[in-house]
Amino acid sequence: MVAVGRPRRSCLAVPGSSLKMLDKARGLPADQVFLDLEDAVAPLAKPAARANVVAALNEGGWGGRTRVVRVNDLTTPWTYRDVVEVVEGAGANLDCVMLPKVVSASHVEWLDLTLTQIEKALGLEVGRIGIEAQIENAAGLVNVDAIAGASPRVETVIFGPADFMASISMRSLVVGGLIPEYPGDPYHYILMRILMAARMHDRQAIDGPFLQIRDVDGFREVARRSAALGFDGKWVLHPGQIGAANEVYSPSQDDFDHAELILDAYAHATSEVGGRLGAVMLGDEMIDEASRKMALVIAAKGRAAGM
Ligand code: GLV
Ligand code: MG
Repeated sequence: MVAVGRPRRSCLAVPGSSLKMLDKARGLPADQVFLDLEDAVAPLAKPAARANVVAALNEGGWGGRTRVVRVNDLTTPWTYRDVVEVVEGAGANLDCVMLPKVVSASHVEWLDLTLTQIEKALGLEVGRIGIEAQIENAAGLVNVDAIAGASPRVETVIFGPADFMASISMRSLVVGGLIPEYPGDPYHYILMRILMAARMHDRQAIDGPFLQIRDVDGFREVARRSAALGFDGKWVLHPGQIGAANEVYSPSQDDFDHAELILDAYAHATSEVGGRLGAVMLGDEMIDEASRKMALVIAAKGRAAGM
């Protein structure tokens, strides 16, 4: 399945404790902003960050960006209050709640039920607010199929590489980077596992952060790997990474043009005037129904990116 949802090529992390960054994020060309109450916010700053996030959402000015709040994970004492304060305070101006360190479908079901309660209490449309589930440890990955399908609200399944690497004792301190001692790509299995679960349930698959924020070439290299597999976007931690993410997760102009050509040629070939053919030549390439589906993926991503 092709998961075409809201554009999420670049998902900008904005600490809820920083009024300056909350303000600046409104002017940046990221497809999504997620206002963070979790790891970018110190424990003592969490109550104030909730209030900042509610005010920032209600003040508006986010344009067409997808507006998300990341709450704290369910092993902490903060999660329920994060959800209640943010959704009661700004539910009408919020698109999704991101839940980190999800380990089983029950976490998503808890959030779904809690959101439903708040929506009913406030008279908001029930089910409009989506859920983004972060996979950040072995339990999350092993249960990812059930997590992705745990609620119709789930819009994205997200790889959280920093927490994930720590949780499985991966021997590296460079998030997303290749490990010289290992001859392959240590993330391939994890990314594919997440992608399969996401696609089985028609969700978007999102790659996590790259922490070397000044190394935009390094960011691009890591992003290209997940984009090639089919991921829809990646987190960005710094304005300098946004342009690279938007570019890498959009098809190239050549691929987009070629996809449109395949769609046109195949539509013609299969039509009455084209002779109702099922497989035809386009230049040196043979195209059939499967080619049409592959072309549709590229064309849909390109159209969503405004090509
Ligand atoms: C993101 O939350 C990560 O842990 O990489
Ligand atoms: Mg994390």
